[in-house]
Amino acid sequence: MRCWRWFCFFFVVGFVFSVSVACTHSADKSTTATEAKTAVVSAETKISPQVKPLPPETTAILKTAQAKNLYNPPRGDVRFVVISDLNSAYGSTDYDPEVDKGVNLVPFWQPDVVVSGGDMVAGQKPSLTPTQIRAMWAAFEKHVGTPLRRAKIPFGFTIGNHDASGAVGVNGNFLFQRERDLASEYWNDPKHDPGVKFVDRYEFPFYYTFESKDIFFLVWDGSSHRIPAEKMAWVEKTLASPRAQKAKMRIMVGHLPLYGVAVGRDQPVEVMADAEKLRAMFEKYKVHTYISGHHHAYYPGHRGNLQLLHTGILGSGPRPLINGKFPPTKTISVVDVNFNSPELTTYTTYDIKTLKVIENDQLPRFLTGHNGMVLRRDIELKDLSTQEKNSCIQTLDKKRCQA
Ligand SMILES: [Fe+2]
Repeated sequence: MRCWRWFCFFFVVGFVFSVSVACTHSADKSTTATEAKTAVVSAETKISPQVKPLPPETTAILKTAQAKNLYNPPRGDVRFVVISDLNSAYGSTDYDPEVDKGVNLVPFWQPDVVVSGGDMVAGQKPSLTPTQIRAMWAAFEKHVGTPLRRAKIPFGFTIGNHDASGAVGVNGNFLFQRERDLASEYWNDPKHDPGVKFVDRYEFPFYYTFESKDIFFLVWDGSSHRIPAEKMAWVEKTLASPRAQKAKMRIMVGHLPLYGVAVGRDQPVEVMADAEKLRAMFEKYKVHTYISGHHHAYYPGHRGNLQLLHTGILGSGPRPLINGKFPPTKTISVVDVNFNSPELTTYTTYDIKTLKVIENDQLPRFLTGHNGMVLRRDIELKDLSTQEKNSCIQTLDKKRCQA
């Protein structure tokens, strides 16, 4: 009788083991490279004893059919999620559903920090009253600030033109001083601490530095196209500092990009002035990446040695890129940093509506912005055909096509 029991026990164990091996084997055989990239990662499988439990809002999105195959890339030494341009129409105290979806999905990726390219509220209108401006920041607090703080995820952001424009009038005064004062009031309230590890609060929230693990972030006020000379001196001194230079990587964050990438924004006041000089300075101090917003179009680019992450939009008004046929798309990006990899960064960018990953080859190989060509990050100048080079030169000129 005892022998029979043991026989039954081993038979059942053996059967279960064989089935699981067979299933694993068959899964291996049927998993192509592409499928591996979209492997099913359910909310449950992501939770490990070391990982914080997911908020109910995150779990609810992960249970939708659309999120069933949500890809979670291999984690780097440091991971950050990048979001940008969250605002709706002027004065709005509500957000498009994609903002809530993006913010609530953030805990799924468990980033070390969320980086924002700015335009968190819908200002830049002189008629907005202090009450209306405070109401916009209260809405931001409800939709973005509170969920990230509850999930204990730091938020490193730059100020955009709709938050507190740095544009100046003929007398040199800020045109939107009231919006700047109220943005400062919101961010300097200890209740709204963004949770980043500050190095220098200098003129927070307009100019400041913070670190995330071994990455040194410098945030400047790129809400208008010019950085005043005294601020530029601080930027250069800071980038040259031993603390910045000792970091394993330096990243700049500003609202306006250096070069034009999107339709309707490819003109001088919509990009930083003297982009080539700025790029030379960044390269001198070994800035790896400049993260920007404002153009409402995702484009993973580079010019020379400087990586340019043009962050897509979650709020209203996605725009098409100036070249190619990629449709206007709202996106969210996950950036994994591997210090031992020559590339350092890997971007995984999702169409926030479909949650599908946008691959580089869906995007144009280069963009002919008015102030300089930007190459897609996986393309070097030598990779361009004669025809491609000529088409750039015909649109711009030889100098601006020497990326
Ligand atoms: Fe903007």
